[in-house]
Amino acid sequence: MEQDREIDPNWYAESFGELYSLIYAHRSVEAARDEVRFAAEAVKLQPTDRVLDLACGGGRHMTHLHPNVDFLVGLDYSSTLLAMAQRERGESFRLVRADMRAVPFVAAFDVVFNFFTSFGYFRHEDENRMTVQSVARSLRSEGRFFIDYINPDAVRRGLEPHSVRKAGLYTVDDTRWIDDNEGRINKRTRVSRENRYVATFEESVRLYAPEEFEQLLLQGGLRIERFYGDFSGADLSPDSQRMIAVGHKTG
Ligand SMILES: C[S@@+](CC[C@H](N)C(=O)[O-])C[C@H]1O[C@@H](n2cnc3c(N)ncnc32)[C@H](O)[C@@H]1O
Repeated sequence: MEQDREIDPNWYAESFGELYSLIYAHRSVEAARDEVRFAAEAVKLQPTDRVLDLACGGGRHMTHLHPNVDFLVGLDYSSTLLAMAQRERGESFRLVRADMRAVPFVAAFDVVFNFFTSFGYFRHEDENRMTVQSVARSLRSEGRFFIDYINPDAVRRGLEPHSVRKAGLYTVDDTRWIDDNEGRINKRTRVSRENRYVATFEESVRLYAPEEFEQLLLQGGLRIERFYGDFSGADLSPDSQRMIAVGHKTG
C-alpha cells in the first residue's frame, strides 16, 4: 500500500523538475490569465506596486502580471522551472532561486502573490510559520498578499484515492490519501511511458481549516481580511474549489 510508505519530508525539492511541467501541462499560461485578473483586483494592484510571485514555477502568472506592473520578481526553489521561465518568458523576467522559508528581501514589495497551492509543504509547522514570517518580512508596511490554497473541506469530501490519466505520451497514476495524524493530503504519482516506468513523485500539503490558517498567518505577521472560495470571487464555503486568502501585513 502506498500509504504505508512515508512521504519524504524533502519531497518539494525533487517533485518540480522537467516532468512536472509535462504532467501538469493543463495548468497553462492561458489558464493563469483569469486567475491573475481576479488576484490583481482583489489586492487592488497598482502599476507602481513592487510585486513578488512567490513560488512562481515556470512563470505562467508572471506572464500576465508583467505588463501591468513596473517591478516584478519571481522566486522559486526549482532551478529547472526557473530556467524554463527564463527561456520561455524572456530575459526581462527577474527571477531568483531561493527557499520560501527564507525570502531574501526585506521590506521590498507592496504585494506578494502565491498561486496554486504553493504553501504548507513542510512537515514541521515551524517551517510553514517561517514561510509566513518570511513573506511578512519581504513586504513593506501595509503590504498586501494573495494566497491561493486548497480548501480542506472540499479536499476531504472529494478525495479520489486512485486515478490514472494520460498526459501526452505519459501515463500518470496518482494515489492520494489523507494523513489525519499530521493533517495532510498526500499524493504519490507514478509516471510511465509506453508501459515503461519513468519516475515517481510525491506531494504532501497541510490541510488548514480557515480559522487555523488565519491564526498561522496572524502569528507570522499577516492579517487575512477576506477569504474567497474561487477565482470568480464567491465566498468561501465547505464546497468551494479553493481557499483564497487576501490581506495585509500587520504592524
Ligand atoms: C504547485 S507548483 C506552483 C507553481 C506556480 N505558482 C504555478 O501556479 O504554476 C509549486 C511551486 O513551489 C515551488 N517550491 C517548492 N518548494 C519550494 C521552496 N521551499 N521554496 C520556494 N519554492 C518552492 C516549486 O518549485 C513549484 O514551482
